[in-house]
Formats: sequence, C-alpha cells, structure tokens
Amino acid sequence: MRAAEIQDDLAQILVTEEEILAKLDELATQVAADYAGKDLILVGVLKGAVMVMADFARALPFHAPMDWMAVSSYGASTKSSGVVQIRKDLDTDLNGKHVLIVEDIIDSGLTLSWLLENFESRGAESIEVLALLRKPEAAKVVIDCRYVGFDIPTDFVVGYGLDYDERYRNLRDVAVLAPHVYS
Ligand code: XMP
Ligand code: MG
Repeated sequence: MRAAEIQDDLAQILVTEEEILAKLDELATQVAADYAGKDLILVGVLKGAVMVMADFARALPFHAPMDWMAVSSYGASTKSSGVVQIRKDLDTDLNGKHVLIVEDIIDSGLTLSWLLENFESRGAESIEVLALLRKPEAAKVVIDCRYVGFDIPTDFVVGYGLDYDERYRNLRDVAVLAPHVYS
C-alpha cells in the first residue's frame, strides 16, 4: 500500500505523534512521582499498546519491568462482548506487585474491567491503568483510569498501534478511519 493510498483511508488526523510524545512525557513524570520508592511493573495489552509502551517506558526516569498479555473477546461481533479469552498470559507472578496496565484505548471498557478483576485475583498490591486514548461516550462500564492521554469522540481510530484488520498500526499519528474503508 502506497503512502497516498493510506492518506485516502484517513478522514482526519486526531492526535499527532508530537502531541502523543509530549503527553506521554507528562504522564511519565506523574507516574514517576506517584511510584517513587515502589517497585512498578508495566503490563502492556497486545498488540495495540506496543507503541504506547515503547514510548512511555522510555519517558520514565527509572526502569520498570515490562510484561505482556494478549486477550481477545469471545464472539464474532466487532464490538467487545466483555467475555475475554487469554491468548497469551503474563510471565510474571503479580502477587504483591504494583501493576500499571498500559493500554492503547478504552472504548466500552469491558475488556479492561475484565482484566482488572483478573489481576486483582492474582494478588497484586495495587493496580492502576494508563490509557493513551479514551472514548467517554462509548463507555458501558466506568473504568477508574488514573492516567489518560486524550479523550476522543466515538469514531473508529487507527495508527500508533491501533489497527483495522492489522493495517495502519505503523502510522505515527492517530487518525479517524474513513468510512469507505469498512463500509
Ligand atoms: P473495549 O470496548 O473492551 O475495547 O474497551 C478495547 C479494545 O478494543 C479495541 N478498540 C479499537 N481498536 N480502533 C482500534 O483500532 C478503535 O477505535 C478501537 N476501539 C476499541 C482495542 O484493541 C482496545 O484495546
Ligand atoms: Mg487493545
């Protein structure tokens, strides 16, 4: 796919790479202050959170181990059902750990609400959430997310890790996908 064709598939750039990096710097400063003197583990949710994790972890002024979880919703619907299947589990025992879940986007909130419950059952000392994007009008459950990058409208977005059918993940900015791509 050529660059011009990709541009045609995007309705609007919503958040630029520059804005994302500035926001992640800001959030990293906040997280560093909140977790001073504590052992923090970062848990990324594959695959969408890969870019957020890469830039956020490098903005942190200390090292925090990273682990990854891959989950998917049951059912054929494109909308999250809230019933989640673990595709790849963590390598780390969370018992007694301070966990920060790193997510690309909170849409309905169903996936995260399941993950939070799951992590609590593993005996984590504390669990907080960092999400680059949040769609407040799409919320079906309210997630207590301490670190939010940007609140955005309910449109389907791609880029910076977010995909449509495995495409557009590598775009540097976050953009609204043009309706002609999926209709
Ligand atoms: P829920 O609804 O459970 O879903 O909060 C969260 C997961 O759904 C994916 N998602 C999106 N992916 N563009 C995407 O590329 C979007 O606009 C979008 N909204 C939700 C994403 O994987 C997220 O973790
Ligand atoms: Mg995701």
